[in-house]
Amino acid sequence: MCGIVGIVGQTPVAPLIVDALKRLEYRGYDSAGVATVEKGELSRRRAEGKLVNLERRLEAEPLSGTIGIGHTRWATHGVPNETNAHPHFADEVAIVHNGIIENFAELRDELKRDGYVFQSQTDTEVVAHLIARELRGGAQPTEAAHNALKRLQGAFALAIMFKGDDDLIIGARNGPPLAVGHGQGEMYLGSDAIALAPFTNSITYLEDGDWAVVRRNKVQIFDIDGNPVKRQRQRSVGTSYLVDKGNHRHFMEKEIHEQPEVISHTLAHYLDFTSGKTREMDLPFDFAKLDRIAISACGTAYLAGLIGKYWFERYARLPVDIDIASEFRYREMPLGKKSAALFVSQSGETADTLASLRYCRSEGVPIGAIVNVRESTIARESHVTFPTLAGPEIGVASTKAFTCQLSVLASLAVRAAAERGTIDEGEEKRLVRQLSEAPRFASQVLKLEEQIEKVARELAKVNHVLYLGRDTSYPLALEGALKLKEISYIHAEGYAAGELKHGPIALIDENMPVIVIAPHDRIFEKTVSNMQEVAARGGRIILITDEAGAARAGIETFETIVLPDTPEFIAPIVYALPVQLLAYYTAVQMGTDVDQPRNLAKSVTVE
Ligand code: G6P
Repeated sequence: MCGIVGIVGQTPVAPLIVDALKRLEYRGYDSAGVATVEKGELSRRRAEGKLVNLERRLEAEPLSGTIGIGHTRWATHGVPNETNAHPHFADEVAIVHNGIIENFAELRDELKRDGYVFQSQTDTEVVAHLIARELRGGAQPTEAAHNALKRLQGAFALAIMFKGDDDLIIGARNGPPLAVGHGQGEMYLGSDAIALAPFTNSITYLEDGDWAVVRRNKVQIFDIDGNPVKRQRQRSVGTSYLVDKGNHRHFMEKEIHEQPEVISHTLAHYLDFTSGKTREMDLPFDFAKLDRIAISACGTAYLAGLIGKYWFERYARLPVDIDIASEFRYREMPLGKKSAALFVSQSGETADTLASLRYCRSEGVPIGAIVNVRESTIARESHVTFPTLAGPEIGVASTKAFTCQLSVLASLAVRAAAERGTIDEGEEKRLVRQLSEAPRFASQVLKLEEQIEKVARELAKVNHVLYLGRDTSYPLALEGALKLKEISYIHAEGYAAGELKHGPIALIDENMPVIVIAPHDRIFEKTVSNMQEVAARGGRIILITDEAGAARAGIETFETIVLPDTPEFIAPIVYALPVQLLAYYTAVQMGTDVDQPRNLAKSVTVE
């Protein structure tokens, strides 16, 4: 979850490292630091908090070295202060780390017994001391690093630099991603290709267990046993996108507004609007022969998968097991020969999702991945990639990636239904046409912003909010609660509306806003009954529905947000927008850091 960078350059590298770290800040922003080798000595600047604090430090006290490593942190071991900020030093070694060293306590005790003194509470510092001990024992830097790597258990991407050597950075990967960038007389290391995009698009991805010796004019890659290995060099399509909010106050606002366009791009990738059919797909499985799909993902991506379950089961009559990836990976689920597995991830790097994927691979199951970052590890390790064409998503709270994931899942469900013969050609055309209308409906929803902002002003006054929904609106209720918690810090819960009476109804009083997501569909009347139960206990209802729903609810609501009449199939895509806007405006009202909420990170590469 942290982001790491290394540059062996020709000019002072600190400004370049900060530039690269800006593109990695999505991985964490608790503290940041840079170290360089200057006149043979290791020097570093570190600062608690966002990268801008480090920039200020560097302005006041610049670093001049032409080789350096940098880090942006999401704290796992030790509070986010300057002492725990990377790079960490031990004797002649400087190190930055993304991941968790699982055997750090045992290694730290061993090193302490040998007289090593620890400055920080991090797990990372043990790696620096392990290498330093090897150097003291007479090993050369590469040998010292290799010996230390062999002692590590857990997940790591590392960049290691040495006092007195301004032409050597060692990179190592086991779990979290690490890319080597090849330049002209310069070399780079970065957690992803986008970090390196301003410098080079010639990239080699390290594989698990690899470590690389990176010098200005040469890169050598070895496996964990020290054997040289060849890894393919590729052209990265990662652009050095402008970190630009346009006219918007926040990236999240910008990304919410981009949805009509990116949903449309994503759908066009899977659907042929002229013929009204899904496009041909080159798949490692045959939908018609499957008896089950296992979907797993984390966070918002998991909730997209949960909506996908309703679609696959309803339209394609294909049973879906859906799991939170951190549960799936240890659940030892039996997967039969007729199973396929689907992983949903914006970043394509989420550690738990990747571990679940690897479990399925080891079981011999064909793997599909719905990802936004096409060069990500999850994309590379799956048999087929279903890209979401959302473009880079910067706001930590996922918005446009979510609706694009839904667009892909809906398209796949139609394709599966067509291949399994559970819908005829006419029905396929009807569903494809409905999907083609989603961007237009999404645009219409954006016109309701003013009303949603007004409701948000009320939500900002309360401490707890309940979201209710049935059918595909149930995962949306969960998503609404998740969004509100993560960016406004207001406690919220999402519940299946029918489950209200089995517990959460006890929470209802006149102080509890209840947001009901209820398009006028087959089960609308059932949701109305649940609203009655809330109304009878004085709960304040905010109803998100359509014209027919508003007309037939027959309940006095605190506010009714009326969306365009949307076909039931695509309702989750369209109803996601008011849910996002409500969380967004509430957070703005609360004055929180909308794009980088406290304690969170966009890409979670630790368990
Ligand atoms: C983090 C992010 C969420 C995201 C989740 C899964 O928690 O803050 O927005 O939904 O990770 O990330 P992924 O990249 O796998 O979609």
